[in-house]
Amino acid sequence: MICLGIESTAHTFGIGVAESSGKILANVLKPVVTDKGGLIPAKVAEHHIEVCDTAIREALEKAGISINDVNLVSFSQGPGMGHALRVGAMAARAISVMRKIPLIGVNHCIGHLEIGKLLTKAKEPVLLYVSGANTQILAFEGGKYRIFGETLDIGAGNMLDVFGREIGLGFPAGPKIMELAAKDRNYVELPYAIKGMDVSFGGILTNITEKWKTGKYSREDLCYSLQETAFSMLVEAAERAMAHTGKKELLLGGGVASNLRLQEMCRAMCRQRGAESFVPERQFLVDNGAMIAWLGLLEYRKGKRTKAEKSPIMPYWRSDDA
Ligand code: FE2
Repeated sequence: MICLGIESTAHTFGIGVAESSGKILANVLKPVVTDKGGLIPAKVAEHHIEVCDTAIREALEKAGISINDVNLVSFSQGPGMGHALRVGAMAARAISVMRKIPLIGVNHCIGHLEIGKLLTKAKEPVLLYVSGANTQILAFEGGKYRIFGETLDIGAGNMLDVFGREIGLGFPAGPKIMELAAKDRNYVELPYAIKGMDVSFGGILTNITEKWKTGKYSREDLCYSLQETAFSMLVEAAERAMAHTGKKELLLGGGVASNLRLQEMCRAMCRQRGAESFVPERQFLVDNGAMIAWLGLLEYRKGKRTKAEKSPIMPYWRSDDA
């Protein structure tokens, strides 16, 4: 069975093609390209509409199949930006109705967890999912997906991007912050905001922005301190979730998880507690259609069906409600 998955929760329009054997046949990513930072929802939707046909064509070509070979179509039903979600949902409904094939609406965050399990050796991991808008510690436990910890305000990626814009790094700022952070090693104290397994980044962002404006600190020192503080919080929360669930595997997901320093800290934490840390290849870490296609197949196998006429987008859909 072949599933075509459509991802459109935020800046990336992605089309993935997956086989029920677990083989990923194609994963075409079309991210919004901007150097300004900050996404305007209507503009993102325009971008997705523009690239939609090309992305589908490219994915089918890459997979070496025609649209007639597709047996199932899945899409990110939420959470995400309403404007952007609508484009993917409309494309999926149209394919489902025209081709008379089943439609499956899936939860984007769980997509990150399941593609990670498919592509790494992780079997029952705790997922540390860190992206622009999302920061969650997620695991399948006691028969359902549960959120063990999450950000109480903004996502870690958004914090990095806003600070990056403030110091003139452009968008996305994460990779540039990582480079600057590697150059200098003077730690500047920042608020460390973790409550149980939940984290908060708003206060750190305000504090570091004020420090930058005083002109007393270098970009390198601030970038280094920001990474060390924010990532320590994430690793601490993830470790608590692992201790609580007794799980011995940590899986990383989301664009921010491509940060090498975060990966290093996760590996160190896992090593210390006799656990293992897994990182999928970058094209499957970031938002992508392959994870939506794969989750579509898993949900189909479990009997889920989404009716086209009853498939509203769910911008605030929580992973623990999926
Ligand atoms: Fe994501």
